[in-house]
Amino acid sequence: MPAAPLRIGLAGLGTVGIGIVQIVQRHADLIATRAGRPVIITAVSARDRKKNRDADLSAYAWEADPVTLAQRPDVDVFVEVMGGHDGPAKAATEAALVAGKDVVTANKALLAHHGQALAEAAETLGRVIRFEAAVAGGIPVIKALTEGLAANRIKRVMGVMNGTCNYILTRMQSAGLPYDTVFEEARQLGYLEADPTLDVGGIDAGHKLSLLAAIAFGTKVSFDAVELEGIGNVSIDDIRLAQDMGYRIKLLGVAQMTGRGLEQRMTPCLVPADSPLGQLQGGTNMVVLEGDAVGQIVLRGPGAGMGPTASAVMGDVIDLARGLRLPTFGIPANQLATPIAARSATPAPYYLRMTLLDKPGALAKIATCLGEAGISIDQMRQYGHVGIHATVLIVTHKAAPDDIAHATAGFAATGVLVDAPVAIRIEEV
Ligand code: NAP
Ligand code: HSE
Repeated sequence: MPAAPLRIGLAGLGTVGIGIVQIVQRHADLIATRAGRPVIITAVSARDRKKNRDADLSAYAWEADPVTLAQRPDVDVFVEVMGGHDGPAKAATEAALVAGKDVVTANKALLAHHGQALAEAAETLGRVIRFEAAVAGGIPVIKALTEGLAANRIKRVMGVMNGTCNYILTRMQSAGLPYDTVFEEARQLGYLEADPTLDVGGIDAGHKLSLLAAIAFGTKVSFDAVELEGIGNVSIDDIRLAQDMGYRIKLLGVAQMTGRGLEQRMTPCLVPADSPLGQLQGGTNMVVLEGDAVGQIVLRGPGAGMGPTASAVMGDVIDLARGLRLPTFGIPANQLATPIAARSATPAPYYLRMTLLDKPGALAKIATCLGEAGISIDQMRQYGHVGIHATVLIVTHKAAPDDIAHATAGFAATGVLVDAPVAIRIEEV
């Protein structure tokens, strides 16, 4: 007797939802062979039934309410690709679990805010939640961490996880354009989320980092503890000067377990221009995983878009069709530790840019502030003069973030600064 199909209830028929419909329809035979059983869509939901979606949805039942969809008896797996960390996405996911359905979601915001509660509910109810598409789109990074690297103690997780920010930063660099101009370009190209601060404020990437950290370190998702700084203050001057010193600026996420607790930060950083992260162009994502046995793994690929994101969702669905059932964050939810949030204290070299009054002793005063904070200078350049002002660039040897903050606060009292100094961490990658 042929194996029973796995039946999807699909909530959301936007970019990702239609990508899923296309894969299910185009690769029905391939998927059935690989999964050992057919995978079909039985019912769908979106807000506007009349919208033209360039897809044949005629074989699927329509539900106006995603909660009702999630509870249908002809649905085995509820696929949530609506978005939003509360509202219908949360209500329908909870309803699906209670109704005995497994859940596959691309929704990083939902899991960053409610991941622990949902994972506990799923396990209590004997259900599974999968979310490969939520982090780095088409890159199978969740699978790499939970399965391929399961034998490793993870030392550090790092990466560029928001394609829009990487597009903006690389376009600023390659075209020499200021942030505001490129932000507007990104908006015209449809790259920005409906609320752009999710992208440029680092929030979307922070959501993703917090999910990776939970798996990597066996801790409860703690998005609120991520140190977040977006790219809105990255100037074209810093992009140019960093390039001149052999670096690129990236919105870089780093999570690592230290003796003080779990450090999670998503901030603009300099990385060497010739490193894999430095070479990353446009909307591409890159995740670097470091395990004690394996060393360093670099995963690179499309972090968004219809095909890549639907590919990741369907990978999860096919796992469920095959009978692969893992805890949401790799270990049972009730064994996830409550992390102690540690502010970033790991020393690193820093890039410091400042505009000084071009007069005798000005630079000496800055050097004194650094010396008094125990910070040693590695490289220094002065860039011309504008009237009586000069731009000075300093790259320090490794320094603790607090010492850098102390030194730069001290600059203000020297009376030689023209405007606020810029300090950007240089990440060793
Ligand atoms: P989208 O294009 O805006 O589509 C959202 C879909 O959800 C639309 O079909 C919308 O219906 C439907 N929807 C919204 N609210 C609903 C409600 N209350 N009831 C029923 N349906 C509702 O979004 P998307 O880009 O596909 O993203 C979906 C999810 O995937 C999000 O969580 C996003 O963060 C995640 N994700 C997206 C990408 C990507 O590249 N796009 C990558 C990774 C992860 P209407 O069409 O009728 O308005
Ligand atoms: N806004 C996100 C990005 C979409 O630019 O990477 C994929 O999560």
